[in-house]
Amino acid sequence: METDWLDVKSKLGTIFYALSQKIDGWDENFDPEVRVADPRFGDFQVNGILDLAKKNKKNPRELGEKLLAKAKQSQDLANCSLELSGPGFINIRLTPNFLQQWVRTFCGQCDFKQWLAGKTIVVDYSSPNTAKQMHVGHLRSMIIGESIQRLLRFCGANIIRDNHIGDWGTQFGILIMAIKWTKIDVSSLNPTEALDEFERIYREGVELAQQDETLLAEARRELVALQNGSPENLYIWEAINAISYRAFEEIYKQMDVTFDYVLGESFYRDKVDRVCQELKTFNIAEENQGALVIFHRDHDRFKNQPFLIRKSDGASNYATTDLAAVLYRCENFHADTLVYVTDGRQQDHFQQLFLTVNRWLSAKNIPIPHMKHVWFGTVLGEDGRAIKTRSGKSIKLKQLIDEAIARAQIIVAQKNPDLSPSEQNEIARIVGTGAIKYTDLSQNRTHDYVFSWDKMLSFDGNTAPYLLYAVARIYALFRRLKISPADTPTISMATFSTPEELTLARKLVDFPSTIAQVLNDLKPHYLCTYLFELTSEFSSFYNANRIIGEPKDILEKRLLLCQFVRYVLETGLHLLGIEKLEKM
Ligand code: ARG
Repeated sequence: METDWLDVKSKLGTIFYALSQKIDGWDENFDPEVRVADPRFGDFQVNGILDLAKKNKKNPRELGEKLLAKAKQSQDLANCSLELSGPGFINIRLTPNFLQQWVRTFCGQCDFKQWLAGKTIVVDYSSPNTAKQMHVGHLRSMIIGESIQRLLRFCGANIIRDNHIGDWGTQFGILIMAIKWTKIDVSSLNPTEALDEFERIYREGVELAQQDETLLAEARRELVALQNGSPENLYIWEAINAISYRAFEEIYKQMDVTFDYVLGESFYRDKVDRVCQELKTFNIAEENQGALVIFHRDHDRFKNQPFLIRKSDGASNYATTDLAAVLYRCENFHADTLVYVTDGRQQDHFQQLFLTVNRWLSAKNIPIPHMKHVWFGTVLGEDGRAIKTRSGKSIKLKQLIDEAIARAQIIVAQKNPDLSPSEQNEIARIVGTGAIKYTDLSQNRTHDYVFSWDKMLSFDGNTAPYLLYAVARIYALFRRLKISPADTPTISMATFSTPEELTLARKLVDFPSTIAQVLNDLKPHYLCTYLFELTSEFSSFYNANRIIGEPKDILEKRLLLCQFVRYVLETGLHLLGIEKLEKM
C-alpha cells in the first residue's frame, strides 16, 4: 500500500475493483462498496461481494475467496492485513507502519484542490426578502450555504457567492399601496424601527385586502406600476430596500458571511421579457387565460400543475426571475454548476425550474449547467412547532444571534475571569455565533430540528464549544512547550504503539473520505459527526498518553498527532464557517 493515498477508502475501492476485473467472468459493474468497518473487525470492509453473488446466484463465500486470493498477491495491498469473514466480507486492517507513514505524509497538508479544479460554481444562498426582517427561516440558508461554498472552494472550485435578494416580489404591491394611504415619508423613518414599521403596515394591508377585492386589484396595479418604472413607486421601493440592506449587512458582519454579488430579483427586471419571448418561440411556454405558463407533459405532477412565468396582468414573478438568473449565470459567469440553498417547501419550484431550463437551453443549443437544490427542514421550538417568540411572532434572527452571544458571554466570564473584557467579548462572539452555526449544521439538513439553548452552548457533546475547546487545549499545550503551531513537527521515528495513538491515527485517515462524502451529498452534518468523534478520540488519547516530560521520540510522535488533530479541527471548523480560538 502506498502512503500517498489521500482518500484511503476510495483508493481501496479502486484497487478492489481493478482486482475483480482480473478474475474470469466477474461483472464489470461490480461495486466493492468499501466502508469504514467496526473497529473490532478491521479498519475497512469490502461489502459488495454479497450483492454480486445475489445477482449472479453464486455462493458469496466462494467469490470472496477468489477476490481475497487476488488481493493477497497484490503489491498495492502489501501494507495491510486481509481476511474473509462472515458470509463474504473482506476485512482490511491497516498496519501501524502504514498509519505512521500516512500521518507523516499528510500532517497539515491534505490537498483536495484537484477534486473540483476548473469548475465554476454559483452558490445562491441567504437570499432574504426586503421590507422584512430576516428571521430564523433565513438562518439555515445563510449557514448551510456558507458552509457549502467553503467546502466547494476547498475542493478547488471557482466559487461565485450570489445573494439573490427578494426585492421585486408581490410584497411591494401591498406595501406601496399601504404606504401611500398612510402618507408616511419612507426616507424619514428611523432605520432601526423602519423594518418593524414596514412589517406592520404590510400585515395591515394584507388583512384589508383579504376582505376587499378592489384593494387586492389596487395592490396588483401598484406592483405593475413599479415593474413598469413609475417614479413615485420606485422612490418608495428604493428607500425600503436601502433600509433592508443595512439591516442584512449587520447580520452578515456578525456571522462572518460575505458575498461576491448581491444581484436581487430586481436586477433581472429588464431581462425577463427575453426569457418569455424565447420560451414562447420554442413552444415551451403557452398562453393560458392571459397568463404565460409551462406544463411538463411527461412529468406525473407537473403535467397538470403549471409553472407560471407571467401573470395575466403582465407582471413577472419569482419563476421568471429565476429563469433569467440561470441564463445570466451561464452567459456571464460561465457557470458549470448552480447550487440553490432554500427551505424544502420550494422543492416543486426548483424541480419545475430545472425541467424548464433543460428544455429551454437544449432548444437554444447551449450547454446545460448542473443544477442542485440544497433544501432544508424547519427549525422547531421546544414545543415541537415552528419556532416563535412567546407572543407567537416568528423570532427575528438579530434577536437570536444577540442572545446567543449574551449567553456565551456569561459562560466565558465564568470560565475565564482573568481575560480582558475585550478578549471576553471576542470569544463570546465566536462561541455564540459558532454555536448557532454548529447546531444547525450538525443536523441532517433535510430534517426539522428542535432548537435548544442549553444543548447548543453545552461544552459536552456534539457542540461548537466542545470542538473549540479541544483546539484551544492544543494551543495551550503548544504554548507550554514553546512551539509554534506553524512549525512542521519533527519527524519522529517511534511508531504509534498505545491503543489511543493507534485509534487516533486511524481516525485521522477518515478525514479525506469524510470530505468526499460531504461533497457528494452536500450535507455538512457528516463533517460535524466526524469532527465530534475525532475530538472524543483525541480526548481519550490526551488523557491517557502523557506528552510533557516524555522522552524526545515519544514526545515527538505524540506532538505529530496533536498537530494533525489541530489541523483537521481547524480546517473542519473553517468549512463550517466557524472561526477558531487559541484561548478559550
Ligand atoms: N427570497 C427567497 C425566499 O426568501 C429565496 C430565494 C432563493 N434563491 C432563488 N434563486 N430562488 O424564500
